[in-house]
Formats: sequence, C-alpha cells, structure tokens
Amino acid sequence: MAGRLEGKVAFITGAASGIGAACALRFAQEGARIAGMDLAKPSGDSDWDEAVAFAGGGVFESGDVRDEARIAEIVAAVKDQFGRIDVLVNSAGVAGGGMIHDLDADEWDRVVDINLKGTFLASKHVVKGMVEQQSGSIVNVASVEGIEGFMGGSSYNASKGGVVVLTKNMAIDYGRSGVRTNVICPGFIDTPMFRSVMVDGPASVIADKIMDAHQLGRFGKPVEIANAALFLASDEASFVTGVTFPVDGGYTAGHRFSL
Ligand SMILES: NC(=O)c1ccc[n+]([C@@H]2O[C@H](COP(=O)([O-])OP(=O)(O)OC[C@H]3O[C@@H](n4cnc5c(N)ncnc54)[C@H](O)[C@@H]3O)[C@@H](O)[C@H]2O)c1
Repeated sequence: MAGRLEGKVAFITGAASGIGAACALRFAQEGARIAGMDLAKPSGDSDWDEAVAFAGGGVFESGDVRDEARIAEIVAAVKDQFGRIDVLVNSAGVAGGGMIHDLDADEWDRVVDINLKGTFLASKHVVKGMVEQQSGSIVNVASVEGIEGFMGGSSYNASKGGVVVLTKNMAIDYGRSGVRTNVICPGFIDTPMFRSVMVDGPASVIADKIMDAHQLGRFGKPVEIANAALFLASDEASFVTGVTFPVDGGYTAGHRFSL
C-alpha cells in the first residue's frame, strides 16, 4: 500500500529534535523524502537519524531560521537534491518569556525572531516554489500558548499568537494557488525543550498542575503531534486550510472547576 506522503518532499525546520524530528520520522515512514534544518546537530536520541534510515537518505543543513540568506541557500540546496518541496513544517522554536516589566528587549527579540520571524522567513522562501507548482502544504507549529495566555508567557505567547494569525493570512493569500496552510497548537509535549522548562527548569514546581490541566491527564508525545502534522501535510487534508488545530489532550477545552 502506498504511503500517505508517497512521492512528496518534506522540509522541516527544527528537525534535529523533538517534534520536528518526530515529523521527519512519521513522514519518512509514509513515503516522503525528507530534508531538515536546525541550528543544532541531531542529537543521538532524536528521531532524525531513524527518519533518514527509513527514507534511505535525507538532506540535513545547519542554519538559523533568523538568517534569511542562509534559509534561501538551504531551500535551494533542498531543491537541488529533490527538485521540489511539497510540505513545509515550521517547528524550529525556543521557550522563553517572563513578566514584561522584567524582560530585556533583547530577550523579547530572540524569542519572537526565532518563533515568528523564523516561520515567516522559511515560509517566504518555500512558498514561492509551491505557488509555481500550484500545490503545497505548510504546517506551522505554534502552541496552546498562542491561543491562551499563560502567566509570564509574554514573548513566547506573543510569538505563537503571531504564528496562529500569520497562518490564517497565508491560507488566504495562497489558497487559490493550491497552497494550504494550517497551524498545530500542541499542549505540553515531552521533548528536550519541555524537559528544560518542566523537569530541569523553572516550571518543575508546577508540572503536576500543568499536567492536570490536560483533560487526558497526561503530557503528550512528539509522535502525537507528528501524526496531526502528517494528516495536514497529506492529501487527506485537501479541503483543510487556515485551521488552528489544538493537539493538546484537552488543555484548551476548559477547566475542571465545579460550580
Ligand atoms: N514541547 C512542548 O511542550 C511544546 C508545546 C507547544 C509548542 N511547542 C513548539 O514545538 C516546536 C518544537 O519544539 P520541541 O518541543 O520539539 O523543542 P526542541 O527543543 O526539542 O526542538 C526545537 C528545535 O528547534 C531548533 N532551533 C532553535 N532555535 C533555532 C534557530 N534559530 N534556527 C534553527 N533551529 C532552531 C533547536 O535547535 C531544536 O532542535 C517549537 O516551535 C515549540 O515552541 C512545543
């Protein structure tokens, strides 16, 4: 049976780790050829190496999503290798925040530039080819924190809220060119970023409360986000564009306070 992404080329930012690497692996398992970029090299325990083994090869380029010239080079390199890009997943991102009275402007810029400007730049350089070929699917990765506030979320929430609305604009701007754009809003997912904040970082003291706010009573796994991305990337989602898709174990469903 043909894979759900058979014949498609997927380019993933933040591919070295967590959700991005899980997307690479799920996409490869469904027949995609895979290309990834990241600031970091894939860590030994990420899914990227397994994805490459599955796909029988892949392109990995080091680069910063804030660097437009580098993004342009990488997109060109992927097209040299594979001829086209059918799917873009914007997963590169960083955690951050702090109450705004206490937040350095440089730190604000770092988070917003990686999470929001990075999504803009990668999309800008990929969507041109998608418009030329009159097909493509862009899957942005925002957060439940792009839908709701979170104490001290500031730069992170603003960046992810920006990604949510940018996604809708892209759906409007490119829908008639055959390009679909959707955004996944993950709940809290067990990845290296999550562990740096929730296990080894400042939020460890409230980790149980955050877990409890997920109506399934647990945190998510990277593959659970990758499965949603797979659907949006594939032709099964051929009539789906401009959608904000929480994949959050019920985090945004509401609260369990009893009246
Ligand atoms: N893990 C969660 O709980 C969670 C929840 C909601 C949203 N998200 C979002 O999911 C996406 C993936 O996060 P993750 O949890 O897999 O984290 P992760 O840290 O495991 O992976 C993120 C990757 O992005 C890369 N990256 C960071 N800055 C970059 C830059 N300037 N240029 C290129 N690559 C860069 C990192 O090197 C890393 O490999 C992020 O956008 C994150 O905000 C994560």
